[in-house]
Amino acid sequence: MFNKKTIEDMNLKGKRVLVRVDYNVPLDEKMNVTDNTRIKLSLPTINYLIGQGAKVILMSHLGRPKDAAEEKYRLTPAAKELEKLTGKKVIKFDETFSEDIKSFIDNEMQPGSIAMLENLRFNPGEKKNDTAFAQKLASLADVYVNDAFGSSHRAHASISGIAQFLPALSGFLLKKEVEALGSLLENPQRPFVAVLGGSKISDKILVIKNLLDKVDSLILGGGMTYTFLKAQGFEIGKSICEDDQLQYALDMIELAKTNNVKLMLPVDIIAASEYAADADYKNVDTGSIPAEWEGMGIGEKTAALYAQEIKKAKTVFWNGPMGVFEFDRFSFGTKEIGKAIAESGAVTVAGGGDTLAAIKKFSLSGKFSHISSGGGASMEFLEGKVLPGVAALLDK
Ligand code: 3PG
Repeated sequence: MFNKKTIEDMNLKGKRVLVRVDYNVPLDEKMNVTDNTRIKLSLPTINYLIGQGAKVILMSHLGRPKDAAEEKYRLTPAAKELEKLTGKKVIKFDETFSEDIKSFIDNEMQPGSIAMLENLRFNPGEKKNDTAFAQKLASLADVYVNDAFGSSHRAHASISGIAQFLPALSGFLLKKEVEALGSLLENPQRPFVAVLGGSKISDKILVIKNLLDKVDSLILGGGMTYTFLKAQGFEIGKSICEDDQLQYALDMIELAKTNNVKLMLPVDIIAASEYAADADYKNVDTGSIPAEWEGMGIGEKTAALYAQEIKKAKTVFWNGPMGVFEFDRFSFGTKEIGKAIAESGAVTVAGGGDTLAAIKKFSLSGKFSHISSGGGASMEFLEGKVLPGVAALLDK
């Protein structure tokens, strides 16, 4: 249950409302936004606030500038994209704060209009969660709204510090994310199957551990499985492997047994002569990867077994591809598993940058119950952590 106050819990008419959004979006060389998903996801909150007659002041970070202004990290392209999506003028400032900005918002900005501050990370106070910077930001508004789920694992000035100085409410996206991801941890419909992939175990150590306490089955695919397979004594050739995680892999296999979780690892693998889009390849049983070859993804038998398990699920969480899906020759496993999840009829939740790219590539976007806008944030949430950006909001 979501127990934080939202924008529906306060009268915002005529109020200056400072909204933290996550417009950390990809840009091309011409500074056009190449994927506007995150901007679109912020529209329900923005439109609601406009409808309430609030002055909507948006703020976000973009990329990782080094605590100073850098042209390529300006938020102007995001502001233009928002103008296209809303059909409304977005007043874009070139600074994160100034007395002129404050005076404009106080005296000239009309209720129902939209303004946007410059990239917060141009100010060294943002990442340091500097109190003085948080206070300056707060001085621009009457109310603070967090709708930046994707950044809510960062204890930064615009995410947590600012909540000391203004009434702090949740936007609609943040609420939706916490409810969707929270339902996985709190009361999932069973069987609950988690499908984890991607190249590194080290990115997922805490998630795997926490999910082994919640799921009925844990399906593993992609690069991280070779560490599990090597730990069990299988030959993995030149496949990617984290030798410092071999003991962790064995511990997780034990923990799965103790918790009565069905842990599934590949029984066959698509092996390739080299890491290249046009490499020679063959489907081999686990343990039979030729010494000079490497694993590029789950094999056909594995995909069928995984799909069968997914079909029985009532809840599925997916993070991480089942192999090198960027190369068409090796995208088979990720595509099959993505389709199986999308067609399972279960509550389906997906998160993580690569997973979203795979979902897009295989045109499965509309078929998931929830696709998280947060990469790191969704992982930390599923590790069981309370995100600073959620903790900072007013309780109901
Ligand atoms: C993201 O894209 O995951 C968020 O915007 C957070 O960005 P960061 O990892 O640079 O803090």
